[in-house]
Amino acid sequence: MKRSLPISVLLFCSFMTFAGSRISDKQLQRTLDLSLEQAMRLYNEVKVFPDKLPRTIDQKGKLVISNDKWWTSGFFPGTLWYLYESSGKKEVEDAAMELTRRVINQQYTTDNHDVGFMIYCSFGNALRITGDKTNESVIINAAKSLSTRFNPVTGCIKSWNNIKWQYPVIIDNMMNLELLVNATRISGDSSYLKIAETHANTTLKNHFRPDGSSYHVVSYDTIKGGFVDRVTFQGSHNESAWARGQAWGLYGYVMMYRETKKPAYLQHAQKIAGFIMQHKNLPKDKIPYWDFDAPQIPNTLRDASAGAVMASAFLELSTLVDKKSGKKYFDIGQAQLKSLMSPVYFAKPGENGNFILKHSVGFMARNNEVDVPLTYADYYFLEALLKYKKMTKK
Ligand code: GLY
Repeated sequence: MKRSLPISVLLFCSFMTFAGSRISDKQLQRTLDLSLEQAMRLYNEVKVFPDKLPRTIDQKGKLVISNDKWWTSGFFPGTLWYLYESSGKKEVEDAAMELTRRVINQQYTTDNHDVGFMIYCSFGNALRITGDKTNESVIINAAKSLSTRFNPVTGCIKSWNNIKWQYPVIIDNMMNLELLVNATRISGDSSYLKIAETHANTTLKNHFRPDGSSYHVVSYDTIKGGFVDRVTFQGSHNESAWARGQAWGLYGYVMMYRETKKPAYLQHAQKIAGFIMQHKNLPKDKIPYWDFDAPQIPNTLRDASAGAVMASAFLELSTLVDKKSGKKYFDIGQAQLKSLMSPVYFAKPGENGNFILKHSVGFMARNNEVDVPLTYADYYFLEALLKYKKMTKK
């Protein structure tokens, strides 16, 4: 499982990570230009498959596509929207619109919680960037669909329909709340926001350990309320801290504070941030191993997707707190971005199946999508880059 890196790459990384210097405008622009080139290659590859979206590559480097039902379907349209936002290029807007349309039926999905990821990353960005109000009804319908999965007895939204657990809720579900808060903003109907806050409050109470790390899956009792089981599905073991789960939790509470200004969410985001930043197993380049407690550390894989989600969340968190705390969150977000921009993770155009970032881990225990590119790593990487660009603009 150990991957050894060439010495030049290691030296480059240690320089980039320890140099606390800002990423220059030139480096940022070059990274955005290369990302655009790469994403348009991927778009050209995928556009010939009607209704399909890119997912990853297989062991031979061949493109793996999915239909719109797969939970990641909204990320590549969202990546194209970010690249349109930063480039203003008409052909990128057209590509973003075309792939966004491929996800439209998911507004009616009620059999899982991923409708938030699928619709908000695609149609949410389309609305935000173009201002085209025809996207609003899709967002409202998706929020209605997601709301059908809320149960007032458990006080949360059910993630999966799964016979193994009565009412499984995964930490990832925090990400789907952004759809709900924006549905309230658009429609004026406060019920969506109320569900989002109730879910966030229940998760805050039940999903976290005293050290600020989170369980992956919490299963609830629909008769009495409260949880019956706290386990993992994608992590190393039940008491471990699965890296992407920690990233989803951090991002989720940063986003909920941004949207509601409730101090409890900010405090909680900072607690999760502290867990990540102070963890003895967080590597020097700040890109986590796929699980903070993977027994094979250091001889196991990093997860670039977790690093990208964290970078986006840390950069935003740095803007929501006082100057001193803000600096430490900015520094780690910046270090993560620098690492992801380095040749260790950032693919050359035409390589890596035309995805932007290398070395993500989907589902380690099933040996599924391990050490591959993933659309959500690219999406949150670009989101973080654009946040950084805005924050550091002179
Ligand atoms: N939401 C599924 C995952 O993070 O793998």
